[in-house]
Amino acid sequence: MTSSLNGKTVIVIGGSSGIGAAVAKASAARGAQVVLAGRRLASGGESGLRSEPVDVTDAASLQRLFDSVGRFDHLVYTSGPSVRAKTLAETDLDEAQDNFNVKLWGALRAIQLALPYLDAHGSISLTSGQLGRKFVPGQFIKVGINAATEALGKQLAKELAPRRVNVISPGVIDTPAYAGLAEEQRLAMFAKAGGALPVGRVGQAEEVAAGYVLAMENGFMTGAVIDIDGGGLL
Ligand SMILES: NC(=O)c1ccc[n+]([C@@H]2O[C@H](COP(=O)([O-])OP(=O)(O)OC[C@H]3O[C@@H](n4cnc5c(N)ncnc54)[C@H](OP(=O)(O)O)[C@@H]3O)[C@@H](O)[C@H]2O)c1
Repeated sequence: MTSSLNGKTVIVIGGSSGIGAAVAKASAARGAQVVLAGRRLASGGESGLRSEPVDVTDAASLQRLFDSVGRFDHLVYTSGPSVRAKTLAETDLDEAQDNFNVKLWGALRAIQLALPYLDAHGSISLTSGQLGRKFVPGQFIKVGINAATEALGKQLAKELAPRRVNVISPGVIDTPAYAGLAEEQRLAMFAKAGGALPVGRVGQAEEVAAGYVLAMENGFMTGAVIDIDGGGLL
């Protein structure tokens, strides 16, 4: 069966790595024209898969992206900062604000600038995370960003209708987000986190990408939060 993504244009902000890169790959495999955006990307690529440099903290770079792509169908936002786990008492609030600026304000900035180009029957898929409804000491930054993202997804699903807005909430997923840890430490962390889950393992980027594909393809889905977390919230 042909996917409804066939021939559609999908912009993946955060497409240079991890979950975003997997969404880009899955969308291209369904016949979409995909534009990946991220700071470390250079302008270029072939027709089915193109890349553009974008820093989501810089509105001008987002504006350049949307001007260069023109009308498009689906916006996927997976950009996220590397957040250091600390309690509120230990946190430099300027650093916390920088984190919010990438994932929360960056998403709002991108949506606002995308609107003139986003098809009225198109969709927006945002990214939260299980730390948003799971409260772990030292994780208030992720909790705050993710909870706000989920609330805004529902708010914008009403405000931007008939465009659809959904949020994908991953659990622990094996991506380059954990590349800062030494191999041994990373594997031990994945084994511990995965072992505590009903499914017995952490997730893969491709498994989470399937949630974004569902949100883009399913014309009856809006205001949803799609948990792909191996049962982490149970
Ligand atoms: N992996 C997990 O366990 C997990 C769990 C829950 C939620 N999530 C969420 O899932 C999303 C994707 O995470 P991931 O695991 O795929 O991490 P990742 O592999 O580290 O990817 C993060 C992405 O964010 C982009 N990014 C960071 N700062 C940016 C900026 N200023 N401008 C533009 N892009 C920026 C990076 O691109 P450039 O470096 O090229 O800019 C990269 O593409 C994040 O929102 C994360 O919070 C992940």
